Amino acid sequence: MKTLNRRQAINRIIGISTAAAGTALVANPVIAAVTNATGDWTLEVGTRLAYAKLDPMVVAKRAYETGNGCMYQVFDSIIQSLAESGSVDAEKFAQIPTAMAHYGYAGMLGEGTVCGNINATGMLVNLLSINGESANAILSQTMRFYEQEALPFQTAEFIEGIGADMTETLAQVGTPTAANTMLCHSSISLWASENGKSFSQKGMRCKQLSASVVYEIVTMLNKAFDGETVMDHPTSDTTQSCQSCHTSESTFAPSVKTNMSCTTCHGGH
Ligand code: HEC
Ligand code: HEC
Repeated sequence: MKTLNRRQAINRIIGISTAAAGTALVANPVIAAVTNATGDWTLEVGTRLAYAKLDPMVVAKRAYETGNGCMYQVFDSIIQSLAESGSVDAEKFAQIPTAMAHYGYAGMLGEGTVCGNINATGMLVNLLSINGESANAILSQTMRFYEQEALPFQTAEFIEGIGADMTETLAQVGTPTAANTMLCHSSISLWASENGKSFSQKGMRCKQLSASVVYEIVTMLNKAFDGETVMDHPTSDTTQSCQSCHTSESTFAPSVKTNMSCTTCHGGH
């Protein structure tokens, strides 16, 4: 199928000539809704493609070996793995222009704002379906994981699994740190300060961090695929206590809509 474009493939399936194809595509509202003028499939707002189970360590290793920044590492490694998977939508995954995710490096083109791992996760889950259901809930779980967990993973099993060297890792990454936030700046500066490093020495640390995030996302997606409710990384008790009064509807207290860890930025009162 790789050598056929979408239109040729559709022609084969419905058995019509190229000349008749244009009319047939326009006449068929279902096909017209998901193809562009040349008959190629396009991703539309609200489209969700079927997730198929992947091996978390294999995809984590792929992410580690993928360059071009954290957002691209996460988005490309998972999408390309799905393109090669048994998903009924594998061919559609193959057509997603993952290069769009490049902008997310170092908190969006080096601005140090939202970490690219998180940005990639949002972009990914928004276009995934798990057995027909939305995968969006995985974003919040990934955010809480990113805030709370000491990263990157540094077990012998993980370092070996992604094909990294432990001695080199200990020298270049040092001690893993919990970011407490989704911001690239805080995550990296905290790690750098704990390990006596500079921002420009973040290379291996951030690549291993993306591999760790990919490992966790794939693990959670697999659980959801198996019908489990994924609640591996709940909102902290402190944040939940703030949210008991600060809801998006609240008028008696200033209204708030976020699940971020409140105490990273605010003291209590
Ligand atoms: C029992 C309800 C309640 C809880 C729980 C609560 N708040 Fe509030 N919060 C309020 C009310 C009411 C106000 C506005 C009046 C005031 O200033 O006390 C407020 C005001 C604020 C403000 C505005 C500035 C200020 O300090 O007055 C911030 C920031 C804030 N809360 C953060 C938090 C955080 C963070 C938590 C959790 C650690 C939290 N709140 C828990 C009720 C609550
Ligand atoms: C990344 C940092 C950050 C996080 C995390 C965060 N906030 Fe805020 N929040 C701010 C800033 C900055 C403002 C604007 C404060 C200002 O300029 O006075 C604000 C404003 C508010 C206000 C209104 C303040 C006022 O003066 O009336 C409330 C209430 C509040 N936040 C509560 C929360 C709660 C509850 C959470 C967690 C669910 C939370 N915030 C998470 C940074 C943060």
